[in-house]
Amino acid sequence: MKIAVAGTGYVGLITGVCLAEMGHVVVCTDIREDKIQMLQSGCSPVYEPGIAPMLKKNLQAGRIRFTADPEIAYNDADLIFIAVGTPENPDGTANLDHVYEAAYTIGLCLNQDSVVCTKSTVPVGTNERISEIIHSVQHDGIKVHPVSTPEFLREGNGIYDFFHGDRIIIGTESAEAARVVEQVFLPLKIPIIKTDTRSAEMIKYASNAFLATKISFINEIAAICEKVGANIEEVAYGIGKDERINPQFLKAGIGYGGSCFPKDTKALVQIAGNVQHPFELLESVIKVNNRQQAIAVKKAKELLGSLLGKRVAVLGLAFKPDTDDLRESASLIIVKALLAEGASVIGYDPIATENAKKIFGQTIEFSDNLQTAILQAELAIIVTEWDHIKHFPLEKYPTLMKNPIIIDGRNCYSLADVRKHPITYISIGRASIHHENAPSSNPSWEGKNDETIISNL
Ligand code: UDX
Repeated sequence: MKIAVAGTGYVGLITGVCLAEMGHVVVCTDIREDKIQMLQSGCSPVYEPGIAPMLKKNLQAGRIRFTADPEIAYNDADLIFIAVGTPENPDGTANLDHVYEAAYTIGLCLNQDSVVCTKSTVPVGTNERISEIIHSVQHDGIKVHPVSTPEFLREGNGIYDFFHGDRIIIGTESAEAARVVEQVFLPLKIPIIKTDTRSAEMIKYASNAFLATKISFINEIAAICEKVGANIEEVAYGIGKDERINPQFLKAGIGYGGSCFPKDTKALVQIAGNVQHPFELLESVIKVNNRQQAIAVKKAKELLGSLLGKRVAVLGLAFKPDTDDLRESASLIIVKALLAEGASVIGYDPIATENAKKIFGQTIEFSDNLQTAILQAELAIIVTEWDHIKHFPLEKYPTLMKNPIIIDGRNCYSLADVRKHPITYISIGRASIHHENAPSSNPSWEGKNDETIISNL
């Protein structure tokens, strides 16, 4: 079977390379010639653990190739995956231009019957439109079956998720097409769920909306924990032990970012609105997340008063560890707010610095290591829980920083460990630790969850 993949972004690339790894012959195509050249020479345009060696291995074995010529990719493809981007329109709806362009090109180039699977996240009904577009331009007599196969890959864990996902969704009205797709994925031994096209399209949005809801829920509980003297880590552990709740996606922090949750939650709100069913719960989830992304700077101002002229180290810029992706990262909100307050910002990220430079330009300084990032800083804000940041020795903060104050947006350190050091430490949903030597605009701490450590005791 010859497989074509349209789009060599994150999803398309991982899908193509992993299908080749399974032994299939795969041709990937993209409208960006620079990306095609890079990939054909064995270099990945995205940072993803494990992708580069797997790409090289399958290129050498001749199982995968990259072309900007859609004719070569689609002409004799038995199975085509559409994995192009569906970015957000200004009103929050999904922009389907790339999806429809791909469908049109497939229709023009196809010379035989084929199954066209959509991996891109698309609103309900899009696969029907894709089928209409292909059939409107294709050669006479060719049968094309549309299938919705939504993607659940996490950035940074994409290869693992491809081979060990929880389920594979195959949404189609054609039993024949479902069988073709099923044959491809059967060797993975992942549970396969066959359903209708519209339900498959909805499963993707509902999954991401539900996970985003868990995150905003736990962040709301964290905010209440801070006021009532409870500890969010203990609470999340306690509720997560209930199998009906499950411990995953209960990590409180400075909110969700990335290429999916923010975009897909907004798109689902739009989809619901279009059918006159305002999705009030999801609207609140988005509102809570917006508040959460701004919380680190709010806490900094509550603690220090003015940030004018203060040197602030922002530790971690990517939206989560193991990726160089800054899309919708809390760091974007935090850096912007710090600059607006007149702070001088130094950013550090082990992998995402090059991408961050494209966004922040000269407005902030960058450091290529954590020690120099916090040197003489008056405040450190932890944005991304990279291992390197989580395991950075606490004793170094007081020796390197001008004022050892940490606002930890990802609860990287245990409070017991922090208490052993002369550090003022504010995290999410846990007791704040105010070291007496640290400057503060608010010396009378009244919250139930504030404790003052007096040095020399
Ligand atoms: C997500 C989905 O997990 C994946 O199934 C879908 O296909 C694409 O979107 P991804 O965006 O790569 O994947 O990242 P994920 O690991 O899900 O994290 C998303 C965001 O939520 C990150 O900013 C992360 O920091 C945040 N998060 C996650 C939390 O704040 N708390 C948690 O408990 C989990």
